[in-house]
Amino acid sequence: MLLLVLSAFVAILYNDQFQPFQAAVGFSLLGYTFTTYMIPRVSTAFIKRGLFGRDMSKIGKPICPETIGVIPAICYMFLMILFIPFMYVRYYYHGDGSSLSEPASLFPNGKLSSFLSGMLCLQSMILLGLMDDLFDIRWRHKFFLPAIAAIPLLVIYYVDFGVTSVLIPSFLKRCLNVTSNSFDLGVFYYFYMAAVAIFCPNSVNILAGINGLEVGQTVVIAVLLILNDLCYMLMGDLGSPAYSVHLYSSCMLIPFLGISLGLLKFNWFPARVFVGDTWCYFSGMVFAVVGISGHFAKTLLLFFVPQILNFIYSSPQLFHLVPCPRHRLPHFDAKDGLMHNSWTEYDRDHPIKKVMVPIFSAFEKIRLIKLVRNSNGTIIKSSNMTLINLVIIWFGPKREDHLCALIMALQFLTGLFMLILRHTVAPMLFGFDNSWNMLERRWN
Ligand code: UD1
Ligand code: MG
Repeated sequence: MLLLVLSAFVAILYNDQFQPFQAAVGFSLLGYTFTTYMIPRVSTAFIKRGLFGRDMSKIGKPICPETIGVIPAICYMFLMILFIPFMYVRYYYHGDGSSLSEPASLFPNGKLSSFLSGMLCLQSMILLGLMDDLFDIRWRHKFFLPAIAAIPLLVIYYVDFGVTSVLIPSFLKRCLNVTSNSFDLGVFYYFYMAAVAIFCPNSVNILAGINGLEVGQTVVIAVLLILNDLCYMLMGDLGSPAYSVHLYSSCMLIPFLGISLGLLKFNWFPARVFVGDTWCYFSGMVFAVVGISGHFAKTLLLFFVPQILNFIYSSPQLFHLVPCPRHRLPHFDAKDGLMHNSWTEYDRDHPIKKVMVPIFSAFEKIRLIKLVRNSNGTIIKSSNMTLINLVIIWFGPKREDHLCALIMALQFLTGLFMLILRHTVAPMLFGFDNSWNMLERRWN
């Protein structure tokens, strides 16, 4: 730990040019150290305050402190406040370190506003997550709140960047016989970004229920996004607009990765802490913030493929076409110590809706669901429609940590595949690389 703290201070303080990337690595190490130091020390206090949950997948369902995600979240907010000088003071200096004669006119007020609006948005999400952990707010009440939290971000996007067009692939251009490279979505692009702000936090929260997965998925997404940033930074010119936004994005994500790894250490099987909805909302919003203020809100969703699939697959239960139990996490069987898929049961009072019967039967044929019928052939049970249960149906019952590792690996592989597509096939399809061109056009 001492070595980590020392390295963090070297990276942060031995940095007379205020290099943000180097400082971000230092803050990441500091975040990891602080999180791993604090969590075991505050866990008992959380339990005493009644902030605990039962680990449903262990023998005897022991209690575990919950809402611990608030520790890394608050740590992140403080780290990012300390980070401000490293992100912006360098605009006051020439390359040789001497200060500029007219620094105020060159100071990037737009960039600082974008950063501060992101921080405001994250603070709102931490508050929402905490209220949810404390009072278990209903879905219909909390669903749209992230979009409201994102308003400052969208306003800054409008004022500072304002690009709302999407590119048309070359082959479609020829088919439609249009000359323009892009199609302007106008105000709908703002609705899309608000939807991203709603989707990211909620999608992390519903891909949950096994030790390590809530944090594990955010670690994988953060790594993929940092890889995406590095692609731009290594290929782009130093000081180009694309370089600048991806430097900004990586500087937000590297400290985030540090605190997430610190939390994962305690949430990994057998979990010593639960992260709570505070973490799910906060971490999901970190991604929405970097995606929106880094101007890659479309690319962002390429790294959310498992979350998107989980949402689509879950929709019959989320929209109450079939009953949705309070918990859909897989079922732990104490006899073999493995996680099996969990079930939704239908009875005389809650029969399965007629419209769902043919859909479920078709799903059963392609192994998308497991059904149990009574002697009359009536469906009396169906497996809960979550990606975790589906992975169990496809790959068989698994130990909790193996299941989590498998889902994280699937997330990483799909994300990596998307990343490669994004940087190889997409530029070919569109004739040029979207983000580079949009940025160059807007700022040059
Ligand atoms: C979401 C899911 C729910 C899932 C729950 C698990 C939807 C619509 N909601 O609800 O199906 O059961 O997350 O987090 O898909 N828990 C464990 N082991 C873990 C993590 C959580 O047993 O590794 C249990 C604990 O009892 C913990 C509780 O889940 O107290 C937390 O559930 P909560 O985050 O409040 O559930 P939701 O987010 O509402
Ligand atoms: Mg939750």
